[in-house]
Amino acid sequence: MDLGTGFTTLHSCGGLGATLGLNKLYVKDDTVNPTNSFKDRPSAVAVSKAREFGVKAVGCPSTGNLAAAVAAHAAKAGLPCYIFLPADTESSKVLQASTFGANIVAVNGTYDETNRLAAQVAEEYNWAFANINLRPYYVEGSKTLAYEVCEQLGWEAPDSIIVPLGSGALLLAIKRGFEQFQRLGLIEDKPTRFIGAQAAGCAPIVEAFKAGDDDVTPIEHPDTIAKSLAIGDPGDGYYVLRALRDSGGVAESATDQEILDAIRLLASTEGIFSEPAGGVTIAVLKKLQRQGFFSPDETIVCCVTGSGFKAIDTIQGEIPAPDVIEPTLKAFSSNFKEVK
Ligand SMILES: Cc1ncc(COP(=O)(O)O)c(C=O)c1O
Repeated sequence: MDLGTGFTTLHSCGGLGATLGLNKLYVKDDTVNPTNSFKDRPSAVAVSKAREFGVKAVGCPSTGNLAAAVAAHAAKAGLPCYIFLPADTESSKVLQASTFGANIVAVNGTYDETNRLAAQVAEEYNWAFANINLRPYYVEGSKTLAYEVCEQLGWEAPDSIIVPLGSGALLLAIKRGFEQFQRLGLIEDKPTRFIGAQAAGCAPIVEAFKAGDDDVTPIEHPDTIAKSLAIGDPGDGYYVLRALRDSGGVAESATDQEILDAIRLLASTEGIFSEPAGGVTIAVLKKLQRQGFFSPDETIVCCVTGSGFKAIDTIQGEIPAPDVIEPTLKAFSSNFKEVK
């Protein structure tokens, strides 16, 4: 199912880099995918396979972004679609998925409870759910982000990459992408440090990393504005911890206020409007830079995985509404005195 996903821009971030003292800073801008998040990558592959298998219906449990991505690809494929979402998912994400014609199942519970219900439904009705029984295909799609980054950097992997974590599937897919390109001889066999970024209100992987644990202890009640990352029991947590440690990377978290500040910083220095998940990435970049984690000339790629338009309710309260003026030059001049 091709909606034009992928080959998104890798921005060379002179403005943000100068602010932070980093000379080779990049943002992989996956906000510009067809439904405005990286989730179009896994959905394109998963829904294509679903159609190939001749299933009756597709769907997914989602924290919001996969919902729109699967619903759009199902619409293109002409397949009925069932989307399971926690009832408190951002309204723009619900609206987007339902506009594509999906059946929306709003669940009174956390993402983990929603996920459990969806798994039962997929089994009972024999439907194909992107991130459940189509998961091997789903993760293949996400790998393309890594392939593109290598090509856009002139056929090399970055020294460090910062990835926002929900289940952890994206980070592992990127790692596999770099490894495959190395094995094929398309890029040099140089190590990339993986940095996992979570919101402080739902940071089970960060907590396990800092405690030196091998296993992740689930968070029962996530509480963060980064709703797309609010997965209390990350399915790939164990493997993400190993990937972070093996690569010499780290896991770090950001508070809601740090996330909002980072959204504004990215927007005002680079012209990129991100949802809170991307704010988590940039907030963690800032935090680690302050701790002296990076050297000024290393190549750093920040994954900004979803658009700010998908979380307007959250961001709106932070940005002051404009004053309304009369349509006169006098009114303009008295409101914008600093212009002259
Ligand atoms: C915008 C965004 N970024 C990152 C993630 C994390 O992806 P994963 O669950 O593969 O770790 C999600 C998950 O829904 C997301 O919506």
